Amino acid sequence: MSERAPLVVVTGGAGFIGSHTVDRLLEQGARVVVLDNFSTGKRANLAAAIGRGGVLEIVTCDVSTGIFAALAPITAQHGPVDRIIHLAAQVSVIASIASPVVDGQINYGSTLHVLEYARAMGVKKVAFASSAAVYGDVSTFPVTEDLHCQPVSPYGIHKYASELALDYYAAVHGVAATPLRFFNVYGPRQDPSSPYSGVISIFADRARAGRDLLVFGDGGQTRDFVYVGDVARAVVAAAMSDSTSRVALNVGTGREITVLELARIVVELCGGRSAIQHAAPRAGEIVRSVAAVERAHTALGFRAEVALVDGLRATLA
Ligand code: NAD
Ligand code: UD1
Repeated sequence: MSERAPLVVVTGGAGFIGSHTVDRLLEQGARVVVLDNFSTGKRANLAAAIGRGGVLEIVTCDVSTGIFAALAPITAQHGPVDRIIHLAAQVSVIASIASPVVDGQINYGSTLHVLEYARAMGVKKVAFASSAAVYGDVSTFPVTEDLHCQPVSPYGIHKYASELALDYYAAVHGVAATPLRFFNVYGPRQDPSSPYSGVISIFADRARAGRDLLVFGDGGQTRDFVYVGDVARAVVAAAMSDSTSRVALNVGTGREITVLELARIVVELCGGRSAIQHAAPRAGEIVRSVAAVERAHTALGFRAEVALVDGLRATLA
């Protein structure tokens, strides 16, 4: 690790996507600082990264109250922050419907604090974890980035508001920034412990234990499930690129699958012991979701590579 390697701050770096992003940055020789309040993130997610000796600092910090104080001692010792990957968020669409104000404070507020830091300190690039939830219920598929965004949840609204803030800071303050609209991310280290956790983590957890899977509604709703290792590649490519393009990029596979079909595959991969039950559909949910993937390919050379069944096997292993 050289002192001249780029200094990259990862907010939410102890989380699921964050820890894979840290692994990827270290592979590329970056110096990495993690800011996390450990609300859902875990130090254990960074065990391999810490073992490799690459992580400079892991700072406990609530990003929604600002990051200047947390970073001051680090920059005094190691020099300025080159790039910020902003992943810290509360990630549940359903939780945002229950607590919209809290969602705004965390998900929009944190983005403003990150952008204020980037503006004041001359950070070269901000890559931001936006979401397919910004689109809302659209009627043309696959979903292209130039579609009108009409989010149907507070979570989607605050991700979209964050994108608008990125665009404003780019246009007015010259902060280079890329919003990445993740579709449904899955893979190892995704925490299944909350009822709001990602569906694959819940299905995998239950099917491994031979417990029944609960599908909300008839299971005909579709999602584009993208493997976390692919997402980490896209995030790092965007953060390290010197492009000043202000457009948002989808991060997905371009393939969709129904939740019911997903449940069947997970049950089969786990030996077929679980039954599939149905419950009432979730309110505020989108019905169909699948990404158009050409723009990320053109901008970053990125394509998702891991097939769903391979990613599921890696998740279950
Ligand atoms: P995660 O819950 O594992 O990661 C979020 C991380 O942010 C955790 O480590 C958590 O402790 C931290 N955090 C939360 N609030 C914080 C705060 N105020 N200050 C500092 N740290 C805070 O979830 P994830 O799935 O890894 O999500 C990462 C990002 O990707 C989020 O911005 C999420 O909205 C976005 N995203 C995720 C998905 C998905 O399918 N998992 C899809 C679209 C977008
Ligand atoms: C997910 C992400 C969100 C992201 C969005 C982008 C999580 C927790 N949420 O939201 O951060 O912005 O993708 O597309 O990672 N389901 C069941 N049974 C269960 C759990 C879920 O049937 O036990 C269904 C849900 O009703 C839904 C689908 O599975 O139709 C996916 O749900 P979920 O994993 O919670 O993700 P999203 O709401 O799509």
